[in-house]
Amino acid sequence: MKIHVFESEREAAAAAAAAVARRLEEAPDSVLMMPTGDTMLAMYRELVGLHERGGVSFARASIFNLDEYLGLSAKHPASFASYMRENFFSRVDAEPERTRIPDGATRDPARECESYEREMQAAGGVDLCLLGIGKNGHVGFNEPGAPFSSRTRVVRLSESTREANGAGFPGGLSPEKALTAGVGTILDSREILLLATGEDKAEAVAASVEGRVSEEVPASALQGHPACAFLLDATAADLLNE
Ligand code: GLP
Repeated sequence: MKIHVFESEREAAAAAAAAVARRLEEAPDSVLMMPTGDTMLAMYRELVGLHERGGVSFARASIFNLDEYLGLSAKHPASFASYMRENFFSRVDAEPERTRIPDGATRDPARECESYEREMQAAGGVDLCLLGIGKNGHVGFNEPGAPFSSRTRVVRLSESTREANGAGFPGGLSPEKALTAGVGTILDSREILLLATGEDKAEAVAASVEGRVSEEVPASALQGHPACAFLLDATAADLLNE
């Protein structure tokens, strides 16, 4: 696992965006796995800027999203589908046919999860997976305890994650269940980049990078991945020993 520390959040986000652009320049039909969350807004801004300056095209890429709340339609303003539409898809040239977010409004979640995995395989598997990290070390919506072998499935969110993601929901609590790519799904990606910024991520970053590999810290699974890098700003890297 490689660790890159940048002085500012902006620089860390720009490095993540540059890695995506580089990958698409080398192989325009790459398969990407994309996250949501506040941290990623800076990366999406950078990618949109690069696209507007002619620096990157998503026209031939396939884009899978990591997760979505169960019970929310793509039109719900707090769905991850809305987040992606507003912050990214409507601003770049991604082909709607090749963008895929788990359907939160599905009547048959198990089947939706299976077809999501199948579509990822049919696309050739994920070339580059971008990740954020939750304060408890979660990746996607794989909360502490998620098996490292887990695939796309329905999960129950912890109270702290529901609070952290509560903006836009009644009572400041997000829905209690979500569909998420599993830890095993994520680990199958050929390359993984995790972007973390801000001091409130420092503990999760230190536990994931230098702590014991344990299902209690989902992001620690990344220690075993052959091509994974953490892109951090100085505050998120603050508790690392080296
Ligand atoms: C959510 C998402 C994760 C994301 C995390 C951190 O739980 N499912 O993919 O990494 O939030 O979000 P933020 O960047 O807002 O702290």
